Amino acid sequence: MEKKRFYITTPIYYPSDKLHIGHTYCTVATDAMARYKRLTGCDVMFLTGTDEHGQKIEDKAREAGVTPQQFVDHIVTGPRGILDLWKLMNISNDRFIRTTDGYHVSAIQKIFRKLYDNGDIYKGKYVGKYCKPCESFWTESQLVDGKCPDCGREVADAEEEAYFFRLSKYAERVRHLLEDTDFLEPRSRVHEMVNNFIKPGLEDLCVSRTSFTWGIPVDFDPGHVVYVWVDALSNYITALGYENNQYDDYGKFWPADVHFVGKEIVRFHSIIWPAMLMSLGEPLPKKVFGHGWLLLDGGKMSKSKGNVVDPYILAELFGVDALRFFLLRTFPFGSDGNFSNEALIQTINVDLANDLGNLLSRTVSMAGKYFDGQLPAVQAGDEEKDAELTGMISTLRDRYEEQMEKFAFQNALAEIFKVIDRANKYIDENAPWALAKDMETNGPRLGRVLYNLLEVLRISAILLTPFIPESAAEVLRQVGADASASSWESAARYGGLPETVTVVRGENLFPRVDAEQALEQLEQAAEAARKAALPDLEIEPQLPEKVDFETFSKSDFRAVKVKDCQAVKKSAKLLKFTLDDGTGTDRQILSGIAKWYRPEDLIGKTLMAIVNLPPRKMMGQESNGMLISAVHTEKGEECLHLLILDDAIPAGAKMC
Ligand code: MSP
Repeated sequence: MEKKRFYITTPIYYPSDKLHIGHTYCTVATDAMARYKRLTGCDVMFLTGTDEHGQKIEDKAREAGVTPQQFVDHIVTGPRGILDLWKLMNISNDRFIRTTDGYHVSAIQKIFRKLYDNGDIYKGKYVGKYCKPCESFWTESQLVDGKCPDCGREVADAEEEAYFFRLSKYAERVRHLLEDTDFLEPRSRVHEMVNNFIKPGLEDLCVSRTSFTWGIPVDFDPGHVVYVWVDALSNYITALGYENNQYDDYGKFWPADVHFVGKEIVRFHSIIWPAMLMSLGEPLPKKVFGHGWLLLDGGKMSKSKGNVVDPYILAELFGVDALRFFLLRTFPFGSDGNFSNEALIQTINVDLANDLGNLLSRTVSMAGKYFDGQLPAVQAGDEEKDAELTGMISTLRDRYEEQMEKFAFQNALAEIFKVIDRANKYIDENAPWALAKDMETNGPRLGRVLYNLLEVLRISAILLTPFIPESAAEVLRQVGADASASSWESAARYGGLPETVTVVRGENLFPRVDAEQALEQLEQAAEAARKAALPDLEIEPQLPEKVDFETFSKSDFRAVKVKDCQAVKKSAKLLKFTLDDGTGTDRQILSGIAKWYRPEDLIGKTLMAIVNLPPRKMMGQESNGMLISAVHTEKGEECLHLLILDDAIPAGAKMC
């Protein structure tokens, strides 16, 4: 029988910055869904990629002094880039598209021409507002307090000759799609789209730009580049081979079963994208699911909020599976959730260490201790005592499946953990250690108790595979499940393990995290990462204003010789200098350089000082002038060097 097909996508990411843990949310969810569908026997296509054109990228590349292509190459394929991140997170995508890939570029040109040829793209003049970070055009009426309604940042005036897509023509069909079908989920997003965008009247969409060049050129009108969202949205079909010969999967996988997207880009996916497809005469995706955001302290997550949101640091400390699990266990997929390291540690300790980890280690070690690792052939059930648990195990897959089909990851996991929780109680109720005191009488019963626990672990591990692939495989190995006892089919039935199954003791899968220590380590790692990202050398830029010679000449710089130098009591910074300035009277200068010099090392040195500054009191002592030094920053650390002069220069010599 031919396998059922399932095509799922993530948004394609902007390679404008390093990605944070919030970015991984959608990709981890998509991965869990793709793995789940593969587990159930589907032929899956899981697509992700990068959205590499647009003014923002062009600007950032210029700032970095590289070409836009070099810039995106570095962020996509460079060390700790986007490809590395997906490898780290164990993402099982089948395909990765870059919108700079040649086949995509030429397919977009064909798509643009098709839309033009069928009369849905026409030339006009664009007058409006543009939000560069979002790459979005807005009309005056769509702005919120004069700012971008998506990100709240400043928008700029934009006026240029441009091509327009007749979005307005499709307003009614899109409205029907949103209101009368289950195309867009969760349902709350439908109201948002209809009320905010359709009801006020859909305007035609500007789909080309002439004010920058980093985009796909409109092949029949040089100087115009295709609007990034037309370029980006089309990735879902070009990656299958639409209008190109790179792939041949369009017939097989289109229409997509679901596009997972963040809530702020639902507008593009549920209004513009279906309208484009309607115009092209292509089938529409079956569903768009707009998930919520991971917030940090209730606000938008960004790299600038600190490195504690760096997925590399988190994965290194807690493990990739724990991180994946946390993201999908803690937050309902359709709503926003507050990310915190404390919550992450709590989830690891409660669900993974306490509940699942303990159940596994207790069960496997009891099987080892009481039966040398192999359960006995003769086991004795106790219908009444076992019924609740065995009932829960045999129906778990159905309950889980129902939730997974609704993309309710959190609920699916909750179903699994209800059974795990019940199994831990079952251990206490049956007290295997008490049964083991009289093996002759209770051995068969003890065998059955452990068998039931192994079955809970086996079925839970199969169903956890999409979430924590590596750990689930290890659980299955430890409980002695072979390939047939690890399949989706076998998860529907209690009794997949042979009665005389042999367990394998392994390492503790999920050790408890010491919260205090982990938070401290996290801070240290974040600080080290912050330092490593700082520039090696920073030198203060030169002042733009000119100073006239007369003003400059008023500053009296002299060579001074250090007669004595001492630390100032109760000050961590100050050194007190007694200096010969050539006048015959000692001069006292205080200088905040204790961090860089020991007083005894400076005695006898010839330095440079400005001697006609007004006297200043510091820590109760008077300072008459200032020693001159050179300063710069290395890896964020301030560095200072006193100007130490040739000893042949006499005290008091004027510097000019
Ligand atoms: N390039 C567009 C998508 C084009 S799809 C044809 C884009 N890229 S993005 O890099 O800015 O965002 C990619 C995805 O990450 C979006 O779905 C966005 O919602 C998601 N997230 C970014 N920050 C997030 C959180 N803090 N939490 C959850 N998802 C987040 O948009």
